[in-house]
Amino acid sequence: MGRIIAVANQKGGVGKTTTSINLAACLAEKGKKVLAVDMDPQGNLTSGLGVDKNALPYTIYEAMCGNCNIGECMIVHPLGDHKLNLSLIPAGRDLAGAEVDFIDVDKRQYILKELLSPIKDKYDFIIVDCPPALGMLTVNSMTAADTVLVPIQCEFFALDGLTQLIYTINLIKKKLNKALEIEGVVFTMFDARTNLSLEVVENVKNNLDQFIYKSIIPRNVRLAEAPSFGLPINLYDSRSSGAQGYRELAEEVINNKLYSGV
Ligand SMILES: Nc1ncnc2c1ncn2[C@@H]1O[C@H](COP(=O)(O)OP(=O)(O)OP(=O)(O)O)[C@@H](O)[C@H]1O
Ligand SMILES: [Mg+2]
Repeated sequence: MGRIIAVANQKGGVGKTTTSINLAACLAEKGKKVLAVDMDPQGNLTSGLGVDKNALPYTIYEAMCGNCNIGECMIVHPLGDHKLNLSLIPAGRDLAGAEVDFIDVDKRQYILKELLSPIKDKYDFIIVDCPPALGMLTVNSMTAADTVLVPIQCEFFALDGLTQLIYTINLIKKKLNKALEIEGVVFTMFDARTNLSLEVVENVKNNLDQFIYKSIIPRNVRLAEAPSFGLPINLYDSRSSGAQGYRELAEEVINNKLYSGV
């Protein structure tokens, strides 16, 4: 049975897209069948997987509008690596219009869910990269998802906004998606040379009553470089600390006890 994981945090620049790209690619490297879905009008997931977001006939927005079906906007094996079973549903700037375009649409929170439901079981994992806001696109992602994975940047204001994020997740669970669970929290951009990173990890562990992944993603310049080559970290620099971090996270996600009963 496929699992849909929404990677969400309304804070900008905390590592949502980096986590989406590299978790998806590392799950695929472990032999899983993976679909990555870009729900951010910035289209960073799309370009990070080597696809020109300005040259797409169809995107997730077109599918949400009913102008194409989900198969028509999907890019199968964008990395051209057929050993890595990773496909992409891309996004472009037009997705920014969705907040307004669907305002009067009945059941607008369920648009993504309805698009993904028929194909969900063709994949082991569907990873959805959310934009840095708690608007319609994130609500759609969480309504479609089984779980939410929350990246937390190791910086001073790490806990800020988490209360609101968890409140929103609980609201969606109550009103739109009863089965929704928090997959867990993952620390990103950890810098072992600073006390601050260590303090943030301790502080979050002491104050947040959520599952926290043991894998901690280090701050690694190779992770920041990889998207400009359109490659995930395991293909860009397989031996980097960033690749190691995301491989460990993928292993933990596969073994998350949330799914042990499934
Ligand atoms: N572990 C890391 N080490 C070094 N740089 C990183 C790491 N994770 C992310 N970055 C860099 O930090 C920036 C923000 O990361 P990313 O785009 O993944 O965040 P985001 O949460 O998706 O941002 P947004 O909210 O704008 O969508 C990017 O330039 C990315 O390359
Ligand atoms: Mg992003």
